[in-house]
Amino acid sequence: MSRPHCVFIQAQDLPFKRGLQGGGRPGVQVKILGIDAKNGDCTTIIRYPAGFTRKGPEHLRAHEEFFVLEGSLTINGLTYGQHAYAFLPAGHVRKSYASKSGAVLLTTFSATPKVQTGAPERGLFDKALLVEQINTLDMPWDESLVDPKLARGTMIKPLRTDPYTGESSFLYATAPHRVPKDGAKPKWTHSMIEEIFAIDGEYVWGDCGVMGPGGYVWWREQQWHGPSGSITGFNLWVRTVGGPMHNIFADKKSPMRWNPPYRPRIPAGLKPFAKGYVRGPNY
Ligand SMILES: [Fe+2]
Repeated sequence: MSRPHCVFIQAQDLPFKRGLQGGGRPGVQVKILGIDAKNGDCTTIIRYPAGFTRKGPEHLRAHEEFFVLEGSLTINGLTYGQHAYAFLPAGHVRKSYASKSGAVLLTTFSATPKVQTGAPERGLFDKALLVEQINTLDMPWDESLVDPKLARGTMIKPLRTDPYTGESSFLYATAPHRVPKDGAKPKWTHSMIEEIFAIDGEYVWGDCGVMGPGGYVWWREQQWHGPSGSITGFNLWVRTVGGPMHNIFADKKSPMRWNPPYRPRIPAGLKPFAKGYVRGPNY
């Protein structure tokens, strides 16, 4: 998990390329939001074309986690529609999968997604890691799961907690007008990596710019950012890597800026693509 710090890039600024690294799933188009060059673990957006179909049995040598951004996909007879979530561990057997009218999925892999036909050898598949399907649209928000040090108005839909590492994935939302009372908030950081994909809404990084829907973050440990807030509200997909969620707040407050220029801290290879986010008018 030695991917470099990335706060933040808009997914819209990155190109789709044909095919999935590792060679599986012919016909799909892929945007790579982040990848570890050595191990191949990556976060991608995969577009399955209408009529996509693949017959198994087959399995991956890596864990696959996904969140449906658009359309729907059917795996082993289960249909994953808008905002459905799954964590399919290495060795999970796909007997069949297909998308009738197409789908776009935010997808992470824990290593290069190499496809192998048939069932896995004994010991590869760990059922304790399986989250077969969560229809997040049906879930209630839970305010009690948010760090009490954070300002009120935020809530969580838990998706997964790794039983061995405590790493977690969840949806994190705030109501609009989450504005600090006195115009200032502490910067903060974490002891683990925090990965973010903005599903909807705007997240304002006082130090880096306004992130809109499609914003992507790989926030390395001990890198300070913020203060942050939101006037529109937001709905984020969040994943911790390297341990459970742990926030570290600065002692002093810094003034919040609401229209900061786009000054991302991202890998050099992404800089030529990074244009930032431009809000459309609502009138
Ligand atoms: Fe955070």
